[in-house]
Amino acid sequence: MTVKSGYSPLTRSGFGAELDGLDLARLDEAMVDEAMDVFHEAGGLIVIRDQGHIEPADLLEFVTGFGTPEGNEKYDPGFLVPGYPDVLRIGNTKENGRYTSLFIQADPPPLLWHMDDSFRHPQPVGSCLFCLRTPPEGGETGFAGMTAAYEGLPEDVKERIASIRTVHSYNHLNELLRKKNPHRPPLGEALLAQFPPIVRPLVARHPETGRKSLYLPLCHIESVEGLEKAEGEALLKGLQEHATGAAYTYMHRWRPGDLVVWDNRCTLHAPTPFDDSRHERLMYRLTFGGRQIAGF
Ligand code: OGA
Ligand code: MN
Repeated sequence: MTVKSGYSPLTRSGFGAELDGLDLARLDEAMVDEAMDVFHEAGGLIVIRDQGHIEPADLLEFVTGFGTPEGNEKYDPGFLVPGYPDVLRIGNTKENGRYTSLFIQADPPPLLWHMDDSFRHPQPVGSCLFCLRTPPEGGETGFAGMTAAYEGLPEDVKERIASIRTVHSYNHLNELLRKKNPHRPPLGEALLAQFPPIVRPLVARHPETGRKSLYLPLCHIESVEGLEKAEGEALLKGLQEHATGAAYTYMHRWRPGDLVVWDNRCTLHAPTPFDDSRHERLMYRLTFGGRQIAGF
């Protein structure tokens, strides 16, 4: 079966695709190219199940077809898979009382919908998660399709937001997270200097497909250029509500062996909580670089 004949949409709007009949331990170039085509057609989200038998090397090879794997220099080396510095463990696994994976503490709704690192340039254009262990409930990951969400906006709203620009800031995100977790330290001088605020379009054109998307990781956006704070916040909040509505979102319930790949240029994602005092969650994560949204 070819990739293109064996996939099904994950949402009403057509955002997201689950690919069938793929074995990532037996990859060939044509298969990776076809998976890439489906990835773009589906608005930047693919799900491939039942890959529990694959090795980190297979993951790396597959992801290399999508972009250039990014290193994980900023993370604790103890979170990396031995021999595979591009593969980061995320989850809540521990050895001798110390985390052996990066623990992303998710809160109950409202979910923290985001695009990874939109506050830096170049931004990672995509990432994937491969599930090794998952709790019996919770720990799902939400995905929202920003191309379909943009295309579903009324014409007058599209016109109104066509040339709006927003300011993305790591410090804004960090302060938001500090409100929930006062033990989180403020960003130090070095990080503040390394990640100054960056101006982004609210409507971004994808460099591969040419399609427009809402570029709206709300938790990274500190202001809207040319609008009063309250007016900017109300505009973005309304757009996010639309964009994370049922037609454009997919909640992935993980099973070991699942691989999910997403595109940070045109999708949002959000972690959900689980009882980490009783259950283990463990994923391999690879992040990749590539062509930036138009204008960057
Ligand atoms: C990420 C992320 C969500 C999850 O890896 O960037 O947001 O559910 N993960 O683990
Ligand atoms: Mn993320």
